[in-house]
Amino acid sequence: MSTPQLPSGPRITSLQTFRFLRHPATLLQECRARYGDPFTLPLPMGNVVVTGSSEGIREIFSADPTVFEPFGQLPLIPAVGENSLLLLGGQRHKRERKLLMPPFHGERMRAYGQLMRELTLHAAKGLRPGGTFRAQHLTQAISLEIIIRAVFGIEEPARVRRYQEVMNAYLESYTPLLMMAVPLRRSFGGVGPWARFQRHVAELDQLLTEELATRRGREEGHTDILSLLLAARDEDGQPMADPELKDELRTLLLAGHETTAIGMAWALYHLHHEPQTLQRLLAELATLGPAPEPEALMKLPYLGAVCDESLRIHPVIIVVGRRTVAPFTLRGRELPAGTPVMASVWLTHNDPALYPEPERFRPERFLERKFSPFEYLPFGGGARRCIGAAFAQYEMRVVLGTLLASHRFALAHDRPERPVRRNITLGPVNGVELVYSGPPQGALA
Ligand code: HEM
Repeated sequence: MSTPQLPSGPRITSLQTFRFLRHPATLLQECRARYGDPFTLPLPMGNVVVTGSSEGIREIFSADPTVFEPFGQLPLIPAVGENSLLLLGGQRHKRERKLLMPPFHGERMRAYGQLMRELTLHAAKGLRPGGTFRAQHLTQAISLEIIIRAVFGIEEPARVRRYQEVMNAYLESYTPLLMMAVPLRRSFGGVGPWARFQRHVAELDQLLTEELATRRGREEGHTDILSLLLAARDEDGQPMADPELKDELRTLLLAGHETTAIGMAWALYHLHHEPQTLQRLLAELATLGPAPEPEALMKLPYLGAVCDESLRIHPVIIVVGRRTVAPFTLRGRELPAGTPVMASVWLTHNDPALYPEPERFRPERFLERKFSPFEYLPFGGGARRCIGAAFAQYEMRVVLGTLLASHRFALAHDRPERPVRRNITLGPVNGVELVYSGPPQGALA
């Protein structure tokens, strides 16, 4: 039997790899225009079949999950550990998701609203009127502390500070170069980037070991996600073992903090770049007064639309990967087992048939129509859809709503922001430089 031919696409792996790393959006768009959908991209990890059409996305996300295994996550192993949900497939993935998902259920998010609000106001206290700052630094500091307190359940201020130090050092030491270049993952006599990263891994592991030792058996009455995971039992009544739990905590830290911070930074950029959107949002926020409650913020339609549109125009993760473990038909093309497949979030979000003038930031489009999970997919989809989606959406609304209800900002300059690859995420090249103008006119400082 002959092997089915993959869809057509560009050649020369090294050139496409360079473009995929440096200019992924342009490459994806050019390929779609030239080769149609789906097309095949030659990358070092294999010939990857890419689709950005909602039909193709529907076929991938609604397929029987046993047809796929994870793909494209190997660079993350050193950072998240091999027990991470991101790397598991088959029955283990299913079991682990069942344990991890309940604490992230949408309804549960209310427990974290006040905390998110307080941490935002506290972080904003450091801003000086007239001072310039990077929005992404602010949102990242807020989202890291939210993870430490709401997910890890750390309360004591000195211990929160210790976690901040260790986690920042850990995240910064896993550089894009270490992620991509496996030969660099060697300790050259205890010096060099790998050795440094290993030291920070050990520090974080030490903190997590202490945490699990003191917290096991004392989870009752606590609402943080770690306490809920400690109490979780699988179908056989078994709790999660320590190595499993530690890898999942590192996964939640890595997957949940920078992603949400980037989404919020883009929202702040577009709101100030397109002043009519900011005016409309401020008018909506004004109906709640200067100190809105999280639950009231969650009911604001335009605030929700601003967050949705920010993740549409700048998806933080622009492709989600799978590898077929059985033959699979994608838009009428038969793909053999072992084919890497990517659902391109970016292409779908930039399809003019779905989003007219896709390059325009227009939150109204989310008020005018509803998009299906195959048309709007910032959190991926199907059996591997982001488990933190409700958490991130809640956090974006509460943090942005709280910040903008009581603070005024302006862009520090006219230079347009553009997305650049950070590692697997894409973020604003300059981190969105803003000037803090002070509290709204007429408000008590
Ligand atoms: C705006 C913020 C976020 C974005 C854009 C985002 C996006 C994504 C995407 C695209 C995936 C891959 C889905 C797929 O393969 O179909 C994913 C997976 C995942 N995300 Fe998020 N995420 C965000 C926030 C969070 C948060 C706050 C958490 C937890 C605290 C989280 C935890 C995870 C986990 C554990 C997975 C792996 C799911 C699996 O493989 O079964 N994410 N996320």
